[in-house]
Amino acid sequence: MLELVAGDITTEHVDAIVNAANSSLLGGGGVDGAIHRKGGPEILAACRALRAGHLGKGLRTGQAVATTAGRLPAKWVVHTVGPVWSATEDRSATLRDCYTNSLAVAAGLGARSVSFPLLSSGVYRWPKDDAVAQALAALAELPPRVELVRLVLFDEATLEIAERVRAATS
Ligand code: APR
Repeated sequence: MLELVAGDITTEHVDAIVNAANSSLLGGGGVDGAIHRKGGPEILAACRALRAGHLGKGLRTGQAVATTAGRLPAKWVVHTVGPVWSATEDRSATLRDCYTNSLAVAAGLGARSVSFPLLSSGVYRWPKDDAVAQALAALAELPPRVELVRLVLFDEATLEIAERVRAATS
């Protein structure tokens, strides 16, 4: 089941929430800042450990990796790096990869419920209606044991956009 809701992803009571990170994994603004602020230093420590290990060069765009969720209600944070919007290059396959790779990582941990923000639609400037279209396309099929996916839009206006795009594409 795929739900569209308005809200703050840091308050989601699901097994895994997804972070719109950058390749450094060391924090930023937007969702990333909120997750690290509310989740506490344990998340950053886990990210630093990944950077000291197999992610020495950082996380590539489109890829995903999980850490503890620290003090957040979720069990895990899955960090992924969305592409920056480009008017001249079609990066939409990479944006869809963020959703499918994050789901695969969450499912591999045993997550049955996963919440996503609208990846790339803030600092990375992806137009919200197309960001929703890419999310819906990528989330149309879920891994076998994932029962619930929630796309958490930050405000009512973005939820309305998402509902309109879903109605137009279904
Ligand atoms: N809960 C849900 N959605 C949120 C929240 C929140 N707490 N905070 C922001 N958003 C929304 C934004 O309104 C936007 O629609 O999440 C969407 C993604 O915005 P960003 O967080 O800016 O993510 P993105 O566009 O992928 O840019 C990633 O931002 O802070 C940096 O480290 C991050 O460099 C990376 C870049």
